[in-house]
Amino acid sequence: MAGKSHAIVYGASGIIGWALVDQLLSPYPHAGAFSKVTAVTNRPLDLSQSHWPEINAHRPELDLISNINLRHGDGATLANSLKQANADIESVTHVYYLVFSAIDDDLEEVAVNRHMFENVIDAHNLISPNLKFVAFPGGTRGYGIYAPGGTFTPPLQEDMVNDLPSDYAKTVVYPVYREILSTASQGKKWTWCEVCPDAIIGFTPNGSQFSLALHWAQYLSLYAYNNGVGPESKDSNAVAVEVPFPGNATAANALFSPVSSKTLARFMIYASLHPEKCGGGRLFNVADRDEPCTYGEIWPQLAKWFGLVGVGPVETSSASDNTLKVGELPGDTLDLPPGRYITKYRDIFAQCGRANAVSGGVGAGNQQLDSVGYWLTFDRQLSLKKLRQAGFDEDHNPVEGWLESFGMFREAGLIL
Ligand SMILES: NC(=O)c1ccc[n+]([C@@H]2O[C@H](COP(=O)([O-])OP(=O)(O)OC[C@H]3O[C@@H](n4cnc5c(N)ncnc54)[C@H](OP(=O)(O)O)[C@@H]3O)[C@@H](O)[C@H]2O)c1
Repeated sequence: MAGKSHAIVYGASGIIGWALVDQLLSPYPHAGAFSKVTAVTNRPLDLSQSHWPEINAHRPELDLISNINLRHGDGATLANSLKQANADIESVTHVYYLVFSAIDDDLEEVAVNRHMFENVIDAHNLISPNLKFVAFPGGTRGYGIYAPGGTFTPPLQEDMVNDLPSDYAKTVVYPVYREILSTASQGKKWTWCEVCPDAIIGFTPNGSQFSLALHWAQYLSLYAYNNGVGPESKDSNAVAVEVPFPGNATAANALFSPVSSKTLARFMIYASLHPEKCGGGRLFNVADRDEPCTYGEIWPQLAKWFGLVGVGPVETSSASDNTLKVGELPGDTLDLPPGRYITKYRDIFAQCGRANAVSGGVGAGNQQLDSVGYWLTFDRQLSLKKLRQAGFDEDHNPVEGWLESFGMFREAGLIL
């Protein structure tokens, strides 16, 4: 019923979670669609630094609950913790689950993330009688892209997930989420869907495990500074400074379908408000536009924002033969790939008064993000046929999401 919907967003500080809360408060899709949003985080988040929309006549009420570690206890423990925090969990109608904990050992990662997900679903099955919809993101990892050279011939289509080789499938948590939801929703009034993004481009106020936009923004920002370019530069007469794509030519030219966190969040909300055509455990690929792009064509536009000239890769790397595993860098890589460059020059952020950039960078995914330009040497574009059939027709230039995020990173003191 319009006006009575209550959304709860788990992982609200993450790259997708932040955008979900932002869009719900905007308010997307329209004023009154939700009356309340409960944002749940693990690490503490200061509302004044959240960069979410301020209170206004059309904004749903916001309740921010931090220090909820989903690894602890079970569904009843979580329900109690939320009650103790005075969360009005009984009235929740829509659950958006954006939590993820990256762990080096794949099977342990599956077990830990399974436990956290079960806790959330069990808690709501216990005490949210008005629950209508649960939405969560999978990702192209679920199409086997972590296997060297990829697994399926693109465009990647939703039904391919059923053909994932079993030894690979057990290293990914998304099939486990599907099983949990299929079982838990039986005989209940709620339904669910999964969305599948490839690289997600977006803002977070205090870092993220896997934000490529933040990773490259911090790199380009420091690179510009060190070469006398940009807002903090002391040299106003700097000449054009080139910055090579951090990868090899094959990866720079491989086709893929990125999505801004805003577009992804909007579709998750749209899907949850159209259970008849998006529920029932359906899976939807989501991207900014139907036409795929390449990192090679995006790179110069990203570099330009920082006053740099983005050029092609330095080397013809030995890694272009699809032998690298996720997170691996070839021996003949750049002297300092982005992550190592950031580590070396991180002090500059503090010297320039950007303390937030020191504490709020990229976490566990640092090395994986460094390898993006080397390991992803194969086409992996998504088919958006099903997304369009569901009636979601937003279409954006993928560079928009990057530049919007860069502006917000600067505003939040995460880059120079
Ligand atoms: N990033 C991408 O480009 C990308 C691409 C495709 C698919 N995906 C998928 O999207 C999903 C979300 O990933 P993301 O990139 O949004 O990650 P993220 O930005 O790192 O966010 C993860 C969220 O999980 C929360 N979290 C982690 N451990 C927790 C715990 N023990 N208890 C409660 N909350 C916890 C984090 O909260 P705190 O920060 O407060 O700890 C954070 O809000 C994952 O399934 C991922 O595979 C991501």
